[in-house]
Amino acid sequence: MSERVAVDLKVNGTTHRVSVPAMRTLMAVLRDDLGLTGTKNACDQGVCGSCTVLIDGAPARACLALAVALPGIAITTVEGLAQGDTLSPVQQAFLDAGAIQCGFCMPGMIIQATALLAENKRPSEDDIRHSISGNLCRCSGYTKVIEAISLAASRLTP
Ligand code: FES
Ligand code: FES
Repeated sequence: MSERVAVDLKVNGTTHRVSVPAMRTLMAVLRDDLGLTGTKNACDQGVCGSCTVLIDGAPARACLALAVALPGIAITTVEGLAQGDTLSPVQQAFLDAGAIQCGFCMPGMIIQATALLAENKRPSEDDIRHSISGNLCRCSGYTKVIEAISLAASRLTP
């Protein structure tokens, strides 16, 4: 049995002390230990972007990050974007634009879009396409996703 390491993970503003094997991924901890199943596991290989979370404000793949490497670092999952019952502007725009089909890729897309709009208030379509180029969607064809991110940008910066 592999040795366990105690680590304090700061997820969505709350610190959780977990005891994990050194090679346990952040995704496994989020989903299986903390019950934050909004972070999706589609490939488990760093390819699809469905597990994207914010680590210290930057988008990162939770399936490639080791939990023990992140003590005290702010981690934000899709569950952490809403304020109570009020969706974040990006979440709301995805709904309003009808961007969601099966929804499996959407948490990662929404996190990625949130990071984009934090850095670039008025992204061009090319900027948006480039930003989500690592987030794979099997359903949507991306058109509505791009519309949703543009809508969120226009609402955040009229
Ligand atoms: Fe992490 Fe696909 S599940 S990139
Ligand atoms: Fe189904 Fe993107 S909405 S994979």
